[in-house]
Amino acid sequence: MLEVRALDAGYNNKAVVNDVDIQVDDGEIVAIIGSNGAGKSTLLRSVCGLLPVLDGDVIYEGGSIANRPVYQISRAGIAFVPAERHLFPGMTVDENLTLGAYPKRPDSDRRALIFELFPRLGERKRQAAGTMSGGEQQMLAVARALMAIPKLLILDEPTTGIAPSLAVNTYQSIATLRDHGIAVLVAEQQVPLVLSIADRGYVLENGSIQLEGSAAELRDNPMVQKAYLGVA
Ligand SMILES: Nc1ncnc2c1ncn2[C@@H]1O[C@H](COP(=O)(O)OP(=O)(O)OP(=O)(O)O)[C@@H](O)[C@H]1O
Ligand SMILES: [Mg+2]
Repeated sequence: MLEVRALDAGYNNKAVVNDVDIQVDDGEIVAIIGSNGAGKSTLLRSVCGLLPVLDGDVIYEGGSIANRPVYQISRAGIAFVPAERHLFPGMTVDENLTLGAYPKRPDSDRRALIFELFPRLGERKRQAAGTMSGGEQQMLAVARALMAIPKLLILDEPTTGIAPSLAVNTYQSIATLRDHGIAVLVAEQQVPLVLSIADRGYVLENGSIQLEGSAAELRDNPMVQKAYLGVA
């Protein structure tokens, strides 16, 4: 579905992500793990068209989307949830969801699916998004992206600011997207959590892929255990 080939991405024409190859197959959940400043957000933003592709290519469903306008990438079926969420704080939960479907009409089946995945949002349809808790706002940001009926959902640290006990729920909801045929590419620092639901993953450090493998292979890897799982 998605193939990132020898990608360079960065700022002011200077690459901070170098020669990155990643792949996401249909219906797969793929994790990008790495510490602060590793280049995770830069990588995801260049795939979505929010930052230029300086070199290499991004192939989606067989065609290049490198440096295409964001609205074209979005209409092709890729939805992005930034770490900062960017909700409309003065609008209700329901109104935020309606805007997520734009430029299409909101689909009532999709809205029902979202309330099934995130029951809390169904209970708070008329609450202003800005008055929801941090974790609820994160759920709403993911739900709003799902309103666009994406084929590939790209999430940048969806558990930022959420207690680990609640982050488990967020990931349980994300795991069920597989059953709905939605592929997920997710950057995350809560490594045990994301590897508990991912199919495969990549370790990104200093802008380069250091390691890749199945979630089980990464969990068992001594380097991953030492650096990210706190195993001595
Ligand atoms: N707008 C920007 N202009 C210049 N440099 C930037 C900009 N945004 C990020 N960088 C730099 O690019 C590098 C990669 O940052 P990036 O945000 O991709 O890391 P990250 O892996 O997402 O980290 P975190 O886990 O903290 O979100 C860092 O050195 C950062 O300082
Ligand atoms: Mg980041």
